[in-house]
Amino acid sequence: MKRLMLAIVFSVALIGCADKEPSTVKSTVQKQPAADVQAGKAFAERECKACHGVDGKGTAPAIPSLAAQRERYLIASIQAYKEGKRHHSALRTMAGRMSEADVKNVAAYYASLPPVASASGKEAPFFSPYESGKALAAGCAKCHGEDGNSTTPGTPSLAGQQPRYFVLALQEYLNADRKKSPMHSMLPGLGKLDMESLALYFASQTPVQRPAPALGDPAAGEPLTAVCGGCHGSYGVSTDTATPSLAGQDAGYLLDAIKAYRTTRKRENMRLYVTGLSDKNIQDIAAFYAAQKSRAAEKGQTIVQELTEKCNRCHGSEVDNPAMAVPKISGQDRDYLVMALRAYRDDRRESTTMHKMSLPYSDSIIESVASFYAGQPGK
Ligand code: HEC
Ligand code: HEC
Ligand code: HEC
Ligand code: HEC
Repeated sequence: MKRLMLAIVFSVALIGCADKEPSTVKSTVQKQPAADVQAGKAFAERECKACHGVDGKGTAPAIPSLAAQRERYLIASIQAYKEGKRHHSALRTMAGRMSEADVKNVAAYYASLPPVASASGKEAPFFSPYESGKALAAGCAKCHGEDGNSTTPGTPSLAGQQPRYFVLALQEYLNADRKKSPMHSMLPGLGKLDMESLALYFASQTPVQRPAPALGDPAAGEPLTAVCGGCHGSYGVSTDTATPSLAGQDAGYLLDAIKAYRTTRKRENMRLYVTGLSDKNIQDIAAFYAAQKSRAAEKGQTIVQELTEKCNRCHGSEVDNPAMAVPKISGQDRDYLVMALRAYRDDRRESTTMHKMSLPYSDSIIESVASFYAGQPGK
């Protein structure tokens, strides 16, 4: 169940900067020899230029810019390669060959450079999963309704549907795990980002309450749903991103969907709960859920803005917490940011702080946040 919480979007349990690590910065540090910026430059020209440039701008996509990066962070990250905490074989080898003085000098050199005037909005246009989903959703409207509120009997509403379930459902059609339907022909050509964007868009729409359906008896259905609520939420409003909401769904669709778990939809956990139900029971349950009020599952319109406000507590250009080696990320290479965030999420890069931050992100949110920071003026 825990893993189900790896949501498209997430419960906002972001640890803030309040959560300070014990300060290791003592006022009584011994005098260290000052870094030699000129020696750092010479070293960079010899060893780093091919990839990071002498101006500190990555020479190809996915190579991070180092110009104007915090010295403290540059030293910490070279150290992390040395110790194998960050996995990149070429850098590990290079870092392993560097003396302490080399590290200090080259870090001081790159930190002293002006920020690269790189990733302007043109190079890295802002990617909004919500807007992208909205544009794609136009192709779904004739069957699922303008905003995902279907008025066609037998066709499900998508408004307010949980986003991870939504993506799973599309994949089930794509893999022919669900019976042939008009949905199959809609899917080829949709990539993962498209699916996630559609999911975020529809999850953020407000479901319209339906009148009591013609079939079934909602009052008789209600007691039968006691067992369903544990997963589908009370009154069918799910709070789990991978479990569908049933509230306000088209009754005819619910009827077919429940029956399908006896035959074509191969989900053991659902089959278990529906095999004992009579056709009359199923009608009543469908009638009960169809008449319930649902709500939007996400706030896709503002999600990236709210998210980046949280990131800025540590990464904001005016913030510099001396107890933490926090990199500047504004103006950083977009592809590199995507790669770094995925690495934290997928446990390929160590950082307890960032791991907590990025664990639940979908690829579409990662793309969006990365394009946001890449398009910000240099750090
Ligand atoms: C062959 C190309 C290449 C060369 C040469 C190279 N780097 Fe890198 N560097 C990269 C790539 C790619 C990454 C991102 C690796 C990753 O995913 O962790 C990186 C990452 C870094 C980072 C981490 C930046 C961040 O924002 O986390 C630092 C610091 C760094 N390099 C310093 C150096 C220094 C100093 C040199 C010269 C001694 C050097 N690199 C030489 C390709 C290179
Ligand atoms: C030609 C009509 C039609 C179009 C256009 C259409 N759908 Fe559907 N969709 C259906 C029908 C009918 C079903 C129910 C099929 C079934 O019984 O499994 C469905 C089911 C779904 C489901 C599963 C819902 C659930 O609760 O399990 C999703 C998700 C979905 N469609 C998304 C989309 C998206 C996204 C688009 C646009 C890219 C789209 N559909 C376009 C007719 C359509
Ligand atoms: C153990 C958790 C659990 C219980 C209990 C449960 N469900 Fe489900 N249900 C799920 C999950 C997970 C899915 C999505 C499965 C899939 O991808 O097909 C689902 C799917 C469904 C769907 C398909 C929705 C759609 O939009 O296509 C219906 C309808 C449904 N359940 C009805 C019920 C009813 C009625 C009960 C009680 C009799 C029930 N479920 C009990 C977990 C549960
Ligand atoms: C509590 C402070 C904090 C918050 C909040 C935070 N970060 Fe970080 N971030 C860090 C620290 C510390 C590192 C360095 C970790 C390491 O060494 O790998 C980091 C590293 C990164 C990196 C790697 C940059 C590079 O040059 O390799 C990216 C990208 C990043 N954060 C993005 C984000 C985003 C996006 C958010 C908001 C969703 C966020 N961070 C929120 C502290 C924070």
